[in-house]
Amino acid sequence: MKILATGGAGYIGSHTVVELQQAGHDVVVIDNLSNSNEKSLKRVAEITEKEVPFYKIDIRDKDKLLQLCSEHHFDCCIHFAGLKAVGESVAKPVEYYENNISGTLILVDVLRQCGCKNIIFSSSATVYGDPVEIPITEKCPKGQCTNPYGWTKSMIEQMLIDMQKADPEWNVVLLRYFNPIGAHKSGKIGENPNGIPNNLMPYITQVAVGKRPELNVFGNDYDTPDGTGVRDYIHVVDLAQGHVKALKAVQNKCGVAIYNLATGHGYSVLDVVQAFEKVNGVKIPYSIKPRRAGDIAKCYADATKAKMEIDWEAQYDLEDMCRDAWNWQKNNPNGYE
Ligand code: NAD
Ligand code: UFG
Repeated sequence: MKILATGGAGYIGSHTVVELQQAGHDVVVIDNLSNSNEKSLKRVAEITEKEVPFYKIDIRDKDKLLQLCSEHHFDCCIHFAGLKAVGESVAKPVEYYENNISGTLILVDVLRQCGCKNIIFSSSATVYGDPVEIPITEKCPKGQCTNPYGWTKSMIEQMLIDMQKADPEWNVVLLRYFNPIGAHKSGKIGENPNGIPNNLMPYITQVAVGKRPELNVFGNDYDTPDGTGVRDYIHVVDLAQGHVKALKAVQNKCGVAIYNLATGHGYSVLDVVQAFEKVNGVKIPYSIKPRRAGDIAKCYADATKAKMEIDWEAQYDLEDMCRDAWNWQKNNPNGYE
């Protein structure tokens, strides 16, 4: 298939482009590079031995998008582009709604004008809020998000569902990612956060490489086995392969399909620290700090729907995730710089 990957230079996008190219698809990437570096796509090309056509385009730039989409006849759009920093979204809600929501509205308008009515959207487990059931199935109702970023995901999901209802020619796949970590096993591409990492794994790898003195563990008084927060960490390569499988749903004219992309296993912060230390032989000093605002105790999925319907299942375990995250960080201590 011919695929438009918005935000394809970013962390999840770049890993997905590898898997798409290796599965024989033609991929064109657009990205405004607000949170990424074009070098990621050069590294993708080194891995796949196939160039990645790239256009520096903002999804809010309707004219450029229209020109691109009328030149290329895309079969499907995989829509990764968006701002994703939870804390920043609380400080800059207007910018987040504008970028993520207005951007998506412009994108889908252009896609339909150009006859591409297939979209796979990067959603998030955050749409479940504090989940009413654990493990979380796709039937679990959406909940109250604790920040504007989360609301953008929830609202975009609803927009896409409404759009498909009004025009059943659309096929919409909503992929609810749990906690993607790790990197491609080549060590050529990986997560490259700006400034102080918000998320657990990039913080751990920066402690391991000596950039930060110790990890702050946000709370050890949750109702979990060791008191620290439990999440469903998923290897980014497994997640990327989930997109290749999701194309099947599009080809089968799914209408709207929603899948959790997760492993189904919950690990605590201290489980991750211990696995990282064990597999990499590096000590991660840490200290316990107060809970972080907006965090929930436990979040892990039931991922059987994706297995049954699109034949996707995570292959990699927590040790693989820790090993590959460290391989990327130690080979690229300053990311793509
Ligand atoms: P990322 O920041 O690495 O990638 C997003 C890309 O979108 C970046 O390259 C950025 O430059 C680009 N972008 C942002 N706004 C744009 C715009 N207006 N026009 C064009 N390009 C734009 O983030 P990621 O971790 O790869 O996440 C990809 C998607 O998955 C995002 O939508 C994110 O919200 C979602 N998601 C991520 C996680 C996670 O933990 N990483 C979890 C759930 C969902
Ligand atoms: N944590 C720490 N110290 C840190 C960072 C995180 O103890 O320095 C803890 C958190 O308190 C939490 C766990 O590690 O218990 C995971 O935190 P992350 O920030 O890595 O991930 P979250 O589950 O908070 O959120 C991530 C993304 C969201 C996305 C969500 C579900 O940031 O955008 O996963 O996909 F919505």
